[in-house]
Amino acid sequence: MTDRILDVDGVSVSYGDLTVLRDVNAGVAPGSVVAIVGANGAGKTTLLRTIAGVKSPDAGTITFRGEEISGREPHQLIHRGLTYVPERHRVFPEMTVQENLRTALVPVERDRREAFEQVFELFPILRERRDQEAGTMSGGQQQMLAIAQGLVTDPTLIMLDEPTLGLAPKIVEDIRDTILAISESGVTVLLVDEKVEMAAAVSDEMYLMRKNTLTYLGERGEFEAAYNRILEETVG
Ligand SMILES: Nc1ncnc2c1ncn2[C@@H]1O[C@H](COP(=O)(O)OP(=O)(O)O)[C@@H](O)[C@H]1O
Ligand SMILES: [Mg+2]
Repeated sequence: MTDRILDVDGVSVSYGDLTVLRDVNAGVAPGSVVAIVGANGAGKTTLLRTIAGVKSPDAGTITFRGEEISGREPHQLIHRGLTYVPERHRVFPEMTVQENLRTALVPVERDRREAFEQVFELFPILRERRDQEAGTMSGGQQQMLAIAQGLVTDPTLIMLDEPTLGLAPKIVEDIRDTILAISESGVTVLLVDEKVEMAAAVSDEMYLMRKNTLTYLGERGEFEAAYNRILEETVG
């Protein structure tokens, strides 16, 4: 479909003999938040790694902003506006917040002040702590820095893999608000999260990854029912 910013078409991925994704199809509309939920080991991270150019697919095509990107290197994709914040992404603990952001800016040509201003607007806490060593901040603040490292590259689409992993419920709420703010700033978001409620609270469309296949659950207002129906089918 032409109105999609990202299209995943018939993608299959394996690690050696282990097939992790089978004929996966997905689309992301510009300006939307799309979430992929699913249990541990289902293949969610593998899909994001494949879109980001870290892993090569065995079959299928991936189209971003009208251009086929399968086989592109991650840094080429960052230039085109596709940024990926990996699961358990570690910031550099001995570098300050600003130094971490500067490192993330290296692959792109962008005015540093403008880039920093944009992320500090979104994360006032990072402005406050800009000269603090990242490793001395809380887990939630480090996760915000990880997301900010993605945002300084000025993405059109940002992929977030489990941004709430291991965080306390109150901090999960902060990350949820952050995702909404990112979306309001005009950046398209592809989110992977095992926390279905959290994903449902922010997303316009949702997918379920299960047994190496991706199932479309529908748009906001539809996906809770679809999700529950699938769970009932699985249990019953
Ligand atoms: N680098 C790898 N080498 C071999 N197997 C892997 C690798 N990464 C993931 N897997 C396997 O692929 C499957 C899907 O993993 P993953 O994509 O990380 O799922 P999820 O993110 O949904 O938890 C799992 O069975 C996992 O063990
Ligand atoms: Mg994962």
